[in-house]
Amino acid sequence: MSPADTHPHDASDTAQKPSRRRFLQSAAAAAAVSAAPLAHAQQQAAATPAVAPPPAAVPMMPVKLTINGHPYELQVEARTTLLDALREYANLTGTKKGCDRGQCGACTVIVSGRRINSCLTLAVMHDGESVTTVEGLAPDGDTLAPIQRAFIEKDAFQCGYCTPGQLCSATALLAEYRAGDASAVTSDVRFRPAQLSDDEIRERMSGNICRCGAYPNIVAAVKAVASGNA
Ligand code: FES
Ligand code: FES
Repeated sequence: MSPADTHPHDASDTAQKPSRRRFLQSAAAAAAVSAAPLAHAQQQAAATPAVAPPPAAVPMMPVKLTINGHPYELQVEARTTLLDALREYANLTGTKKGCDRGQCGACTVIVSGRRINSCLTLAVMHDGESVTTVEGLAPDGDTLAPIQRAFIEKDAFQCGYCTPGQLCSATALLAEYRAGDASAVTSDVRFRPAQLSDDEIRERMSGNICRCGAYPNIVAAVKAVASGNA
């Protein structure tokens, strides 16, 4: 039979069979090549210990603080904030952690006479300094400070979460005012304002956020103490 007598279907079969076989052989070879690295990786993973080694111990640093008149010697990591040192190492949990990034004022304490956000500063930076927290505002265990009494009388809190920071801030505010410090709304910064107006109090307390919105009553409480009516 001559090629011309071949059925067209047979002719295409004859032409395609070798190439199909080559394709299957190539695919098998490619699969073997791509599987090789995977098998190698699996062998390596099996050789890796299942448990990672423990991280190296973080060195502790000594910090001496006088907190509310009492001496403390703490061993803290260098990265420990003053807020965490107070709450987690000195067990003084009155100071609150709100945002932990200097935005809410819940962590306000008084360090060497100045109010600061304790979440924004490291404990080791205050070695040897004195710290006053909300637990130290009352002159003794039984008598509240005037600003604490005023907060109760003026109903200056609801949930109370911001209150330790508000009280520390207000305490420092009154001291700053008596010392003659001006604020951003003081009309003539050369002179202490004659009285603590609502604007002065709002400005000077603006670093302390209250989610319950007790602001009018907080202003009233601070004003009452400033004017000697608490
Ligand atoms: S917790 Fe420090 S400012 Fe909010
Ligand atoms: S009393 Fe609730 S946040 Fe101020």
